[in-house]
Amino acid sequence: MTETGKDRNILITGGAGFIGSHVVRRFLKEYPGYHIYNLDVLTYAGNLENLRDVEEYPNYSFLKGDILDEQFLKQIFEKHQFDGVIHLAAESHVDRSITDPLAFVRTNIIGTVNLLNASRDLWKENKNNKRFYHISTDEVYGTLGAEGLFTENTPYDPNSPYSASKASSDHFVRAYGETYGLPYVITNCSNNYGPNHFPEKLIPLFINNIIENKPLPVYGDGKYTRDWLFVKDHAAAIDLVFHKGKDFETYNIGGFNEWQNIDLVKLLCKLMDQKLNREEGTSSKLITYVKDRPGHDLRYAIDAGKINKELGWRPSVTFEEGLELTIDWYLENQEWLDHVTSGNYQEYYEKMYKERNVSQQSISK
Ligand code: NAD
Ligand code: DAU
Repeated sequence: MTETGKDRNILITGGAGFIGSHVVRRFLKEYPGYHIYNLDVLTYAGNLENLRDVEEYPNYSFLKGDILDEQFLKQIFEKHQFDGVIHLAAESHVDRSITDPLAFVRTNIIGTVNLLNASRDLWKENKNNKRFYHISTDEVYGTLGAEGLFTENTPYDPNSPYSASKASSDHFVRAYGETYGLPYVITNCSNNYGPNHFPEKLIPLFINNIIENKPLPVYGDGKYTRDWLFVKDHAAAIDLVFHKGKDFETYNIGGFNEWQNIDLVKLLCKLMDQKLNREEGTSSKLITYVKDRPGHDLRYAIDAGKINKELGWRPSVTFEEGLELTIDWYLENQEWLDHVTSGNYQEYYEKMYKERNVSQQSISK
């Protein structure tokens, strides 16, 4: 539990990314008494356009910097005397972790340890009302078969370089709690979707490809299952856990919303046909089965009973409502989409999907 009523300096890392930008916006609006410092190095996934509507808030500061830079962290922790850290900065894309695992070791493991050190040193004398909140993923638990759910007690069993790096960072956070008494809380969340999602991940990539009439590359047989949560509901859960969660605890966060990829893609195609006034069945013709992701986890599903019972959290929108809000946002923010899909994105797409034999060309109608 941490106090909300008084002035506090809160550091949010990765605040220019997908989930981070929703967390920054929520905290700026809900807690005008806080000063929110957004620390982000602006990788391909970081985009200050995500925060245009709030960047002039008097209680907001952007700090451009790298969590790998210990000196920089030391300076900003000394200067701003943070009371809380909400750590979202990460390399977050499984496919990229397969081509460049070391980037994930650096940012997700070493970067997290650097932040832990800076927090431990700053709060050495007084840990009262201080909190290190580490945002993690359900992927640390590995894969489920057809049955069962991940609970907070499921043993860690990560299968990709991404999930191995996140699992490692979770272990470091716990170890700093045990060894140095650092007050922490960890949440492990399922797949997010919503506005500002970088179009490398399934839902925004497929929305963009449907708009552009390009193939929809479904990995393997499409029977992989994910549990989807609207990003603003994740931000609400983060707010709740930051303020009301118990020190040294983990909470799982999920959408109560499992979908096989192929069923999700068909629903998305149907909604996009309606939004784009295309004949029903037009977008689903773009579905193309391609070479699978190596080490592809079959199924993730979260038991979010603990956060529900202890803190009263539940998702506020259904999947259909959330998807419609998401599609509308992308259709209304074509400029954002154009900016993030120019330049390096084209190179990434070419490299990642060429080896899966997916053409970049639009399919002629
Ligand atoms: P994202 O890739 O959209 O954003 C990551 C942000 O971190 C970017 O703004 C990037 O510039 C910044 N960053 C990366 N390396 C950095 C560094 N070295 N120093 C400073 N900033 C750096 O990620 P996301 O999808 O918003 O995920 C945020 C967090 O939530 C991650 O820790 C991820 O593991 C976790 N998570 C994501 C999901 C999901 O579905 N997206 C689900 C569960 C947990
Ligand atoms: O479960 C939480 C995790 O969800 C987060 O920790 C990660 O940061 C986030 O990226 C996400 O990981 P996934 O690997 O599940 O997300 P992605 O959108 O990459 O893929 C979702 C599913 O869709 C997965 O089964 C792979 C499949 N897929 C993905 C892409 C990009 C395809 O079939 N085709 C594609 O082109």
